[in-house]
Amino acid sequence: MDKLQATINYINEKTGNFKPDIALVLGSGLGGFTKDLNGITLPYNDIPNFRASTVKGHKGALFFTTLFNKKIVVMQGRLHFYEGYELTDITYPIKVFKKLGAKTLILTNAAGSLREDFKPSDLMLIKDHINFTGKNPLIGKNDDTLGERFPDMSNIYTEALRDQIKEYAKNEGVDLKEGVYVMTTGPSYETPSEVKMFGKLGGDAVGMSTVPEAIVSNYLGMNTIGISLITNYASGISKNKLSHDEVVEVGHITAQKFTKLINTIINNL
Ligand code: HPA
Repeated sequence: MDKLQATINYINEKTGNFKPDIALVLGSGLGGFTKDLNGITLPYNDIPNFRASTVKGHKGALFFTTLFNKKIVVMQGRLHFYEGYELTDITYPIKVFKKLGAKTLILTNAAGSLREDFKPSDLMLIKDHINFTGKNPLIGKNDDTLGERFPDMSNIYTEALRDQIKEYAKNEGVDLKEGVYVMTTGPSYETPSEVKMFGKLGGDAVGMSTVPEAIVSNYLGMNTIGISLITNYASGISKNKLSHDEVVEVGHITAQKFTKLINTIINNL
């Protein structure tokens, strides 16, 4: 049997053919979003062809729930390139979500700010990205039933959808910045010179995820939304040393604002 179909069959069996409208990927420190919700949890370890996440602050399960009458599937913890996974493994769940019926993908992450006016605990709507990894998740034989060989990437995070989200945020009194996300492979943080360069290249925030998933989501024809939680000033913008604990900590502190924004998006979509 086809690999994707084996995964789908397992999920369908465990969830009673749950058909999500929206898929949500939770980034570092943002895993608390599901804590007061009831739903079905499937650990990645148990799902055929899924890989487990190894990062502190990432849980490693799919969670199926209904929120504001919308069916959503949540990735509690994502995979990262720096863990040693292939980009095809990292983006495999996105293909599964599409096949399950999800039309919209909300990607969230923790990121470092490349500019002084985007402060730790700010939320940033991603308007475009720069793939600074030198890698692409679509390298390899193309499955023409999923998408084109040379997919256009000129409008991943569509203006229409961003305008809607900015309106929802405004109505809820959530301050939402907007900017360009730069992805590096990590796991080392950037040097001050790299941070200067990313700013000159047009970046506003830098992180180690999201771009592979966004490329595949756009390739599959899904509506793609990206939200960064600014957890720190990137290297050299502030004199402080960077630590993953700080990133996770700011995620916890900002959880309420983040939850409010995600809730209003899901409610209004
Ligand atoms: N750089 C890269 N990734 C990050 C950062 C950073 O400063 N903060 C959170 N994720």
